[in-house]
Amino acid sequence: MNFPIRNRSQALYVETYGCQMNKSDSELIVGLLTRDGYRLVDDVSRADVILVNTCAIREHAETRVLGRMAELNHLKASNPDLILGLCGCMSQHLGENILDKAPYIDLVVGPDGYRRLPEMIRSLDQNREPALSLALDKTEHYLALDPVREPGVNAWVTIMRGCDKFCTFCIVPYVRGRERSTPHQEILRQVERLAAEGYREVTLLGQTVNAYQDGAIDFAGLLQMVADVDGIERVRFTAPHPSHFSDRLIDVMADHPRVCKHAHLPLQSGSTRILRAMRRDYTAEEYVALVSNLRTRIPGLALTTDIIVGFCGESEEDFQATYDLMAAVRFDSAFMFKYSPREGTAAYRKLADDVPEGEKSRRLTAIIDRQKAISEERNRAYIGRMVEVLVEGESKRDADHLFGKTDTFKTVVFPKTAGVRAQTLVPVHIDRATAFTLFGTSRR
Ligand code: SAH
Ligand code: SF4
Ligand code: F3S
Repeated sequence: MNFPIRNRSQALYVETYGCQMNKSDSELIVGLLTRDGYRLVDDVSRADVILVNTCAIREHAETRVLGRMAELNHLKASNPDLILGLCGCMSQHLGENILDKAPYIDLVVGPDGYRRLPEMIRSLDQNREPALSLALDKTEHYLALDPVREPGVNAWVTIMRGCDKFCTFCIVPYVRGRERSTPHQEILRQVERLAAEGYREVTLLGQTVNAYQDGAIDFAGLLQMVADVDGIERVRFTAPHPSHFSDRLIDVMADHPRVCKHAHLPLQSGSTRILRAMRRDYTAEEYVALVSNLRTRIPGLALTTDIIVGFCGESEEDFQATYDLMAAVRFDSAFMFKYSPREGTAAYRKLADDVPEGEKSRRLTAIIDRQKAISEERNRAYIGRMVEVLVEGESKRDADHLFGKTDTFKTVVFPKTAGVRAQTLVPVHIDRATAFTLFGTSRR
């Protein structure tokens, strides 16, 4: 096929919001378009095509992006041929209605439409009407498309797309479509290639990553196979769903030295009544029992979580149950949110958003304070210990220091030492800790 010549050297700028799956999708988009002749640039003012990959999870995420699109639109004044595209979950959520709010957007592409991007951009050359690609496609796995990944220690590998859980608060099943697992052969092909390219860590991604099933292999099997790939030192995964933590998965985590001793296990609420209203299909007691099983079988396991406060009908007593559960479980860290109603979800249609905004804020502040104290205590327990750090590079705050992570996902900062390089594992003695960071001295 003959592409118009001007596309061949066009400069592409991609900006990403939202979760790791979106980051991974942006790498896929860059892979697709660089294969088509685009050059990736990191200066937005030099771009011919700007794509903003968006998130719809909370209202705030969307308002932020709308503001950003308006700002980017100013660049069209000096570059009338500039193509401004909206990709990802917000495109899918708002559909063509986005053009009422931001008529200057040229492309609106949902998470299953990226394959069409090169063709859509080309068609804009002839026809400046906005182009839309919003069909969800449950067969789309983006097979045989190598993402262009950020250089570094860790590579994201999307192993499943979509979600079938339909938690009542959540927009993801509507914007990402039905759950589908990528065939394990394709995942192994990518991981082997990543190892050869020098990545030392892979993070397997999916909205319910441990529900992975390609017809031949389940998640425990896949994790084992990925961890066996030579050259990969560490394997992580996110986000597992508490209802899909099989014994075999716990065994692989416990037994395989390359599988990191860390689970990000979204709780959402410590009240079984609220969990039911959220359609989370586990009770608070089952969650606590799972944590206790995980901690018994995987000594030293770090646990992180997601919590929502102020969900529809959350009473003071329900909130207290969450607050108490946090003290009982003692997470290493948590992402905490105020409930944000999302149009289209079951909660939006059927439940009243009846916790006043001020009360949501009070509850959020209370759990953030509690978690900060717990994180600090848990991190202080590392003082005096040796940990193995996979070095990522120079500390952003201090050029004399390096930083990296423990297998328990703690960030460690330590002074540069001769012979210690990025991409390597080094033993570090921990001397000091805050709620967010460990500080130490390398022993090499
Ligand atoms: N698949 C993961 C979560 C993905 S979304 C899981 O099953 O847990 C990431 C987090 O955003 C969720 O865990 C939840 O805590 C939060 N979240 C999702 N929808 C939300 C909403 N409507 N309001 C506030 N927080 C929300
Ligand atoms: Fe959303 Fe629930 Fe699916 Fe997670 S499991 S993505 S919270 S619907
Ligand atoms: Fe946001 Fe979409 Fe991820 S809604 S959290 S970017 S799956």
